[in-house]
Amino acid sequence: MKLRDIPTPALVIDVPAMERNIRRMADFAAESGCLLRPHFKAVKTPEIARRQLAAGGCVGLTCQTVGEVEVAIEEGLTTDILLTNEIIGPGKADRVARVAGRGDVKVAVDSEFGVRDLARAAREAGTEIGVVVDVNVGLVRCGVEPGEPAVALARLVHETPGLRLSGVMGYEGHAVGKEDRAEREALATKAMGILLPAAQQVREAGLPVGFVSAGGTGTYDITGRMEGINEIQPGSYVLMDTAYAKLDLPFEQAFSILGTVIHRSPGHCVLDTGLKACAVDHGNPSIKAEEGASVRFLSDEHATIDLPASSKVAVGDPFELWPSHIDPNINLHDVMYAVDNGEVVGIWPISARGYREQREIRL
Ligand SMILES: Cc1ncc(COP(=O)(O)O)c(C=O)c1O
Repeated sequence: MKLRDIPTPALVIDVPAMERNIRRMADFAAESGCLLRPHFKAVKTPEIARRQLAAGGCVGLTCQTVGEVEVAIEEGLTTDILLTNEIIGPGKADRVARVAGRGDVKVAVDSEFGVRDLARAAREAGTEIGVVVDVNVGLVRCGVEPGEPAVALARLVHETPGLRLSGVMGYEGHAVGKEDRAEREALATKAMGILLPAAQQVREAGLPVGFVSAGGTGTYDITGRMEGINEIQPGSYVLMDTAYAKLDLPFEQAFSILGTVIHRSPGHCVLDTGLKACAVDHGNPSIKAEEGASVRFLSDEHATIDLPASSKVAVGDPFELWPSHIDPNINLHDVMYAVDNGEVVGIWPISARGYREQREIRL
């Protein structure tokens, strides 16, 4: 199968570029001594996670949803999983407890409610769940406040039957995307200046802190070099996006949305890659190969592309877009077409996409 035989719209992977990204991150882990825990949320695709884990330097995987954890365990990707999200809501803790016994699953908590719910689920399932105290390092998202609140939560976890205090985490998501390296470094340093003392206070309270985890693609070599950070959780680096491409990172854009030209007018063409195939939350996609072309707008099932007068683009042509943000784009598709030098070498299921409980629930 060739690229132009792929039914569109489709998500296409540039396999050699992806492999280079994987190698560069594994090389960083080897050189820095910081362990890697690639974030599965970015790709949700077992075939890619297998390659990341096989490249070396990895302690396991990071997940953001219970469904991702279930897929990681069912597919046998790893037994060492950190779920960097608050697992609150009907059925979530019970699903974690169900798979916890099949691996070393560690879940982020930032509330007493979360601790009690996980403990109840662990007790009912007759298992033990690892817990990581999630500290607010400035993102204004989740995370318990550092200092006494973090220590108190860690103590509660440690003293609660069914739970095991595994470590401390804090995600500096407000730093990772800053294009200016100095600004990114300053923000990440400030964030870790909150996380590392918070972890130390938990230790000084006599509680076990197995590891301290933080970091994303934009800060992998900043946070990942800090004394006391044991592992980093980058996800986007493996396929990248045009938002991250604006930073000074050594990773290449390795995925695109492939469409077909369905209309041609003198100044523009229209593709079948609308908002249902290409997310635009970080801005419109870029154009991979057509010189002088630009995206005007996307609607539900269409992308309108402005073309220069010299353009030879014709109805029926394949046309590739480079998305601005990896995660929401991956989540829109069922499979990835893995392409090497124009040849499709694999069709990889995006097994952890969507909300699998919606496909399984019955009244
Ligand atoms: C908790 C957490 N850790 C790590 C990451 C990975 O970040 P990136 O995609 O920038 O590598 C994210 C991404 O949003 C995240 O939410």
